[in-house]
Amino acid sequence: MRGIILAGGRGTRLHPVTRATSKQLLPVYDKPVIYYPLSVLMLIGIREILIICTPEAVSGFRSLLGDGRHLGISISYETQEEPRGIAEALVIGERHIDGEPCALVLGDNLFYGPTLGRTLRDAADSLEGCVLFGKEVADPQRFGIAEFDASGNLVSIEEKPAYPRSKHAVTGLYLYDGRASRIAADVRPSPRGELEITDVNQAYVEEGSARFVPLGDDCTWIDVGTEESLFDAGDRVRRLAQEHGVRVGCVEQVALEMGFIDADECSRLGRESGDSPYGRYVVDVARSLNGTYREGESP
Ligand code: G1P
Repeated sequence: MRGIILAGGRGTRLHPVTRATSKQLLPVYDKPVIYYPLSVLMLIGIREILIICTPEAVSGFRSLLGDGRHLGISISYETQEEPRGIAEALVIGERHIDGEPCALVLGDNLFYGPTLGRTLRDAADSLEGCVLFGKEVADPQRFGIAEFDASGNLVSIEEKPAYPRSKHAVTGLYLYDGRASRIAADVRPSPRGELEITDVNQAYVEEGSARFVPLGDDCTWIDVGTEESLFDAGDRVRRLAQEHGVRVGCVEQVALEMGFIDADECSRLGRESGDSPYGRYVVDVARSLNGTYREGESP
């Protein structure tokens, strides 16, 4: 399975903090935003990852993550010149996907929880058509919203509905079979001028091959598109680190736990991070591989 992180957009809702940098390079407590979606793709077991960002941001992402070799993965880069919509990521990424199944994750979406890795891997293993991961929200007008019939079957997805038919939002993580780029290529701009990922998802719903997987109550999902959600995310990650000693979204830890790198390499990466609390955590993780830290148990 191939992975794509869409880290485009001008982040205008966060100006002025995103005037000179990309939203996905901002910190959520101890690490840049993009570490979180990257760790999610790695948790699925994906090692070939494409990052799509604005032309101005490529150099920043490259100096942060390089070609990914240190994490035992391969990272490549493409640009999205204008924020023309999420579905365009599947068109820009067509060569990378190369007709294989793929996972697309939004660069500003955070997911974590003890059962997350298992849920995602099970969904990827049994993928047919597409899998959408859901979460109940209080403000359904802001998201892609799923509608179900009386038997609980998924019947439609509506983008930012004025009159939502449920509170089940489609989160920014999507698994597709090998046809995603072809389906996305047929999508036309919506009234807001974007190629909507909801139109791709709706095409799968209409042919009866979209599965909606609700994320458990122990899984947290945060879209850090606003100043409040960015601050809230940092606060939650900080509390997990301070109260439970676990740093969610730690890509070195996930690389180690998934067997992409060994403990020596993990320890080296931690030491290379300098004398930061994050770097020391990575060294500790490498040291206690056989102890406390096991994949799937971290909050
Ligand atoms: C996008 C999608 C929407 C999805 C949301 C998740 O919204 O269009 O369907 O529910 O991401 O974060 P946007 O970020 O464009 O407002």
